Amino acid sequence: MKLINAKDYNDMSRKAANILSAQVIIKPRSVLGLATGSTPIGTYKQLIEWYNKGDIDFSETSSVNLDEYVGLQPDNNQSYRYFMNTNFFDHININKNSTHVPNGVAEDVLREAKRYDELISTLGGIDLQLLGLGPNGHIGFNEPGGAFENSTHCVSLTEETITANKRFFANIDEVPRKAITMGMKGIMQAKKILLIVSGKAKQDILTRALYGPITPEVPASLLQIHNDLTVITAFDK
Ligand code: GLP
Repeated sequence: MKLINAKDYNDMSRKAANILSAQVIIKPRSVLGLATGSTPIGTYKQLIEWYNKGDIDFSETSSVNLDEYVGLQPDNNQSYRYFMNTNFFDHININKNSTHVPNGVAEDVLREAKRYDELISTLGGIDLQLLGLGPNGHIGFNEPGGAFENSTHCVSLTEETITANKRFFANIDEVPRKAITMGMKGIMQAKKILLIVSGKAKQDILTRALYGPITPEVPASLLQIHNDLTVITAFDK
């Protein structure tokens, strides 16, 4: 594991963007695993800036996102598809058809989960997976107590996650109770993983994840055994 302590959020975002852009420059046909949440927004902004300067070309790149809420249409402004379009894809030259997010309104969620795993293997697997960290140690929407061997699946969100994510919705009742998420197994199969964590509030859970016992109670703890993990932190606030 490589652990980089950045000075602040902007520094963390620039360092993460550097790693993602190096990946795309070295392998233009990369498959990027992408994440939502407030943490990666600065990383996406930095990548957009470098794209506008002509430094990165995403035309051959594909992406697969970690997760999506069940029941939200892609054009719902709280869906993760909408988040990715507005925070990243709409501003770069990635082919939208090469960007993938689980379909939260699929009639058959089990079939959708299977399709998503098959898609990832057809693409040749994920070259670099960007991750944020949930306040309870979740990764994607792999909540505490979930099986490490899960591939893409449907989960019921914990009360803690519903509460943490309500800030993005008009009120707590609007927060979906279920999501489709890549499983820890699929995440661990990424060739490289880049975990970004910001804010003092996440310092303890990150310490448990990186140095505590490897346990489904802290899903991110499984990352300890990945052989190419980079963690960038910003704990100034
Ligand atoms: C959501 C996402 C996770 C993300 C987490 C943390 O639950 N499913 O992928 O890591 O939020 O979000 P934030 O970066 O806003 O703290």
